[in-house]
Amino acid sequence: MSHAVADTDAASLRGQALLDHIATDFLGLDTTYPLATGEVTRRVYLDSTASTLMMGAAHRAMSAFLEHYANTHSLMHNSARLATQAYGWAHDRILRFVGADPDAYTCFFTGSGVTAGMNRLARVFRDLRPGKDTVLVSIMEHHSNDLPHRKHLGRVIHLPVDSRPEGHGCVDLAAMEQVLKREQGRVNYVAITGVSNVTGIINPIGQIARLAHEYGALVLIDGAQMVAHLPVQMSGHSDPREDLDALVFSGHKTYVPGSPGVVIARQEHLAAIEPEEVGGGMVERVFTERYTVSSKFPDREEAGTPNIPGAIGLAAAIEVLDRIGMDILVAEERQLIDYAIERLKVIPELNIYGSTDTQDCPRAASISFNVAGLDHSLVAAVLNDYHNIAVRNECFCAHPYVIEMISDQAAEYLAMSDAELAASCEPKPGMVRASFGLYNTRKDVDLLVAAIRDIVTNRERYLPLYALGPDREYHHTTFESVSKEAFSIPRWVDEALREYGGQSPDR
Ligand SMILES: Cc1ncc(COP(=O)(O)O)c(C=O)c1O
Repeated sequence: MSHAVADTDAASLRGQALLDHIATDFLGLDTTYPLATGEVTRRVYLDSTASTLMMGAAHRAMSAFLEHYANTHSLMHNSARLATQAYGWAHDRILRFVGADPDAYTCFFTGSGVTAGMNRLARVFRDLRPGKDTVLVSIMEHHSNDLPHRKHLGRVIHLPVDSRPEGHGCVDLAAMEQVLKREQGRVNYVAITGVSNVTGIINPIGQIARLAHEYGALVLIDGAQMVAHLPVQMSGHSDPREDLDALVFSGHKTYVPGSPGVVIARQEHLAAIEPEEVGGGMVERVFTERYTVSSKFPDREEAGTPNIPGAIGLAAAIEVLDRIGMDILVAEERQLIDYAIERLKVIPELNIYGSTDTQDCPRAASISFNVAGLDHSLVAAVLNDYHNIAVRNECFCAHPYVIEMISDQAAEYLAMSDAELAASCEPKPGMVRASFGLYNTRKDVDLLVAAIRDIVTNRERYLPLYALGPDREYHHTTFESVSKEAFSIPRWVDEALREYGGQSPDR
């Protein structure tokens, strides 16, 4: 065996051992709730595409940092210096993780996840390239990677996904090229998700970037569902057309709830215009009649006091992912997704959306489905109330994509006016989504499969137990699923204060 092979083997053994350890070290893996049957069981968390659980190591890193917390805009005291160093490390760590050349790219943190980053970049690209008013997105985008471009640029074209024998696939590259050709000169940028938050289908972002650049468009990738699940290489490709102009992702989907959104973008694009947000921290000098913007990255893009602990926790989680090795994480997750699809596919009453041939059309994290004849909210409610399985239902902020896939069931909905929709008491269209993080196991999949089989078999028993509520979702008629008995933050605070002799004011 060559030294190189032996080193690789040793590194992957170390990565696997670390993954085995980390996978069991998340907050909330042992959370229990009472079921409608009265039994108390462990919650099975299958909603990581919405938000992942908190990685223990990142939580501890944040807590350790909080002993030294200070504002990074303060200069001379020890804590301010330590905070500034740690915050700088967070930026560098993330740039390295996404393979972005630190001399050419900058990383900055934004408020509310991808949504804030997308709105910001839409305004940046609009101002950077005036006259180019068109953005290409795909039909599979989350609203966060669609509406900001509609609002700030004006004209958005939705590219189709390709159809395969087994269902919808990834973005249709031939259609994309046709549109780029037709709209040449007008397309400002192409904004595509790396991974769908509905089907988990992975898009070929290298090919997308190459095509976009060939036709003079910039390329912006929504990394919300990608960064925690797949390796990303923003720059340094042998074909530089594959390098990305910008990537956005959310810390709360990368194992650190409460952490900010992240933008990584080419410095040259940002340097060409005044930052979109102004205030403290991004200026050199301010007089009453003028101000000078800092030329330093990332400072000029981060007006105001940032979420320093959140950024540091996120960078710590990213350090962990990198040490495990994204190749190991991808292999593990692929096995779990393949296992889940194989086991779900054989339930005849289940319709899984998107291609289920994962060799031809690989997925990360998400699987969405419907049970024939049962509303998605009823299925999600029974999964919660009788099986303690947390899934998401409805349209997952990706209405056009979901509606396209369920158009046969949503025909009436599609024909309704806005006024009719607002007055409607009918159930909303949608699907059920099970999604996975690195803490999920085959046992979780088995529990999901068993629960769906139970719902299919016992549908007549469950149906009379549920009624459609004013929110147009199904709810149990006698069991209150979100019980204050399970957890109440005011009670928690009250009890903690009472330990110190603090009485609540209404006592
Ligand atoms: C693909 C995708 N893009 C964007 C978003 C929006 O992210 P955030 O809620 O962090 O702004 C999500 C959230 O689910 C998503 O899945």
